[in-house]
Amino acid sequence: TPTPAFDMVLFGGAGDLVMRKLLPSLYQAHAAGLLNEQGRILALGRKDLSRDDYLASVEKQSRIHIKSHFDDAAWQSFCSRIDYLRVDASQAADFPALAEKIGDDAGKVVVCYLATAPNLFAGICENLAAVGLNRPNVRVVLEKPLGTDLASSNEINDDVARFFQEEQLYRIDHYLGKESVQNLMAIRFANALFEPLWRREWIHDVQITISEELGVGSRGDFYDGTGALRDMVQNHLLQLLCIVAMEPPANLEADAVRDEKLKVLKALRPFAEQDVAAKTVRGQYKAGASGGQPVVGYQQENGIPAGSQTETFVAIKAEIDNWRWAGVPFFLRTGKRMQERLAEIVINFRDVPHQVFSGPLGGSHHANRLVIRLQPEESIRLYFLAKEPGDTMRLQPTYLDLDFYKAFKVRRADAYERLLLDVIRGKLALFMRRDELIEAWRWVEPIMDTWAASTNSPPKQYTAGSWGPAASSALLSRDGISWHEEC
Ligand code: BG6
Repeated sequence: TPTPAFDMVLFGGAGDLVMRKLLPSLYQAHAAGLLNEQGRILALGRKDLSRDDYLASVEKQSRIHIKSHFDDAAWQSFCSRIDYLRVDASQAADFPALAEKIGDDAGKVVVCYLATAPNLFAGICENLAAVGLNRPNVRVVLEKPLGTDLASSNEINDDVARFFQEEQLYRIDHYLGKESVQNLMAIRFANALFEPLWRREWIHDVQITISEELGVGSRGDFYDGTGALRDMVQNHLLQLLCIVAMEPPANLEADAVRDEKLKVLKALRPFAEQDVAAKTVRGQYKAGASGGQPVVGYQQENGIPAGSQTETFVAIKAEIDNWRWAGVPFFLRTGKRMQERLAEIVINFRDVPHQVFSGPLGGSHHANRLVIRLQPEESIRLYFLAKEPGDTMRLQPTYLDLDFYKAFKVRRADAYERLLLDVIRGKLALFMRRDELIEAWRWVEPIMDTWAASTNSPPKQYTAGSWGPAASSALLSRDGISWHEEC
């Protein structure tokens, strides 16, 4: 069903996120007939561009970033929704023209997507409020990074809260919009099969990996002040952990889901200073190869100061102190310039209590594992041991495979498309509530602080194109296990 009528106001309209993700996603939704006919897109930027100039640059970039078939007719009708307005987000004087353009139709949803640097958020919200654009039908989407630590995140959230109610705020984490993440909820809560096993009695450990082949690219300046812990763990990895570990919500209403996620974040065991060395690994890539081509190390990338100690790889052993998960390690791992682009959640079930089969696999560890792939393809595999055909009792690992693309031959929406549609429809369940953000920062901060203080133990180097520093494997082997891809 199409969305309600809307105005989508894109702050940072000429920026990378709008060009690479937001407009291509809106185009897909348009081409699929999901956008209301009364849906307009208003891109804002500081440059004095004509609508035609703006559209020309959008088309050029969209042709690169739209992965599916580019339909010229659909593109033309999509463009008729788009307008460009010169607005300097920091100038209150520029906002009355914006308010006039939007009008005051209370039946229309107004989405203000702040695809700008977070230091502009407070000013934008104040300027919007000054022209009445904080009325109840206005929603604000906040892009990460929302701060660099708990204090700065609180500051941004306090500023924004002066002008908008919490239910008007959509803090985006695009990992929650990925198809497999929602499927994980379906698997857990729509099937009776897994839920009885989804606990410490039957699960040995959980592994969550988001690895990237790319390096920092042209984002060196931003990345060096951020690092993998803030860029990926504080948000994406912790959100995935929440979806795996949360209790079944009573329904799929926003607060029912977010209350359960919050409980998980609150139950994460805090890191004491001495735990950091034992339970975390930070790494930084050195020169190596990617896709068969030689690539430079992190410190040789553009914008990275020599001697930088920013981590491009993190592995963490997290623990959740509650009844369901006591004693079950959750291993989190992410890195740039790794061997493959991969995002997956691996649930390793416990071994059988007594071996009746002999042979090498008879006593195999982790005969049963559930692997939920988010990237590059979306699939779910359930591994188990079966008998090899023929006159033997030899066991072989095998799996049941659900490849979503093969199983459901329908178009799959990109994460941003799904989340943008949710904002227009007013569905908050897949957006982070403020208290989740606070708990996530609270958990990450001691790790950050301990690393920052330990200048004499810099990040461990790993070769670009590998699976990270050797210490990452060692982190698991202390528990007698290994990362899924190393098995
Ligand atoms: C972003 C990070 O949030 O997620 C990037 O800032 C990272 O550094 C990206 O590359 C990964 O997202 P995806 O969807 O490409 O896996």
